[in-house]
Amino acid sequence: MNESKRALVVGAGTMGGGYARLFASRAVPGVELAGVVDLIPERAQAVASANGADAYTDLYDAIHELKPDFAYVATPDALHRGPVETLAAAGIPLLVEKPLATTVEDGDAMIQAVERAGIHAEVNYSNRWNPPFVEARRVVDSGEAGEIRSFNVRLNNTITSPETDLSWSASTTPAWFLMSHCLDLAHWLSGRTAVSVYATAGYGVLADLGVSTPDWIHATVRYEGGGDGVFEAMWILPDTWPGTMEFVFRAVGSKAAIDVDVSHQNIVVTGLRHHYPVTLNWAQQRVASFLQALDGHGRMVVSFPDAMEVTRILVAAHRSIESGAVEPVRT
Ligand SMILES: NC(=O)c1ccc[n+]([C@@H]2O[C@H](COP(=O)([O-])OP(=O)(O)OC[C@H]3O[C@@H](n4cnc5c(N)ncnc54)[C@H](O)[C@@H]3O)[C@@H](O)[C@H]2O)c1
Repeated sequence: MNESKRALVVGAGTMGGGYARLFASRAVPGVELAGVVDLIPERAQAVASANGADAYTDLYDAIHELKPDFAYVATPDALHRGPVETLAAAGIPLLVEKPLATTVEDGDAMIQAVERAGIHAEVNYSNRWNPPFVEARRVVDSGEAGEIRSFNVRLNNTITSPETDLSWSASTTPAWFLMSHCLDLAHWLSGRTAVSVYATAGYGVLADLGVSTPDWIHATVRYEGGGDGVFEAMWILPDTWPGTMEFVFRAVGSKAAIDVDVSHQNIVVTGLRHHYPVTLNWAQQRVASFLQALDGHGRMVVSFPDAMEVTRILVAAHRSIESGAVEPVRT
């Protein structure tokens, strides 16, 4: 049997902390946690010591001392490029959080860095492993749904996410943080690439709280071959919402409609509070798939070029918010 792969976690926040725990728990066979990097020493230390690993504030030190077998990068949306270029130059395989990049320039630079290094690299569009979407893809592949041409999707968070949980919410938008998942699922399920997008944004609630980002973004995406999709990403659901998010996904094909609603997590508890405990957790399957691909026998890979489809659509969507016009996805 192969030895365990030693993982380096870069960015010790919500996602980095969760994946560090997953790696350290040995819940995924063949992986262990080697170290944790964060620019904030207390964060790196807290996550590393809770999981029996070494803490670093300098990525170079971590790479050279630990010589990890791969790195998981979970820095804020617009800050993936720096760590990715450093890790790629050192020849370290990568699993990078979504969205790959928030500019086409950053995304192209990361693709080139990975190609130059000849390393395995994937983006964590993790909902491709979320069980209801796995089944949706099976239905599409079976031909039962026919040709998928219409999407109606909303993925929304309570206001706690941008107001309290994310210190960097003003440097991203609900579209980068949330809609990126939905656009990736639409692309993955239908195989379609986008041609143009029209988007609008609403402002006010978060701005009044001192968080300079849209309260919501709505986007209508036109796909090649005549399909289209309507997408909503909202960051101001009230905290009284029974869960942390609302995620409702509809894909309509020529022979069937597919509806997924993971907001409720298949369980509703009504006691002192009315809430949806989290039951759907697929991080193990996602990491197992990455490890298989790293070993050269994976079935599914979210490559950097594949993930650039979402970056291109969202760059055009943000341009559309500014211009008020329908914007081409490829300029
Ligand atoms: N796949 C998913 O389902 C999913 C879910 C939530 C978030 N995300 C993505 O994960 C990423 C991280 O989100 P989060 O919620 O964990 O954010 P977070 O703010 O909780 O954590 C980010 C951490 O990165 C650190 N950091 C910033 N720059 C760094 C650098 N150059 N080197 C090392 N550390 C650095 C910050 O200090 C912070 O501790 C984002 O891109 C986000 O969109 C993915």
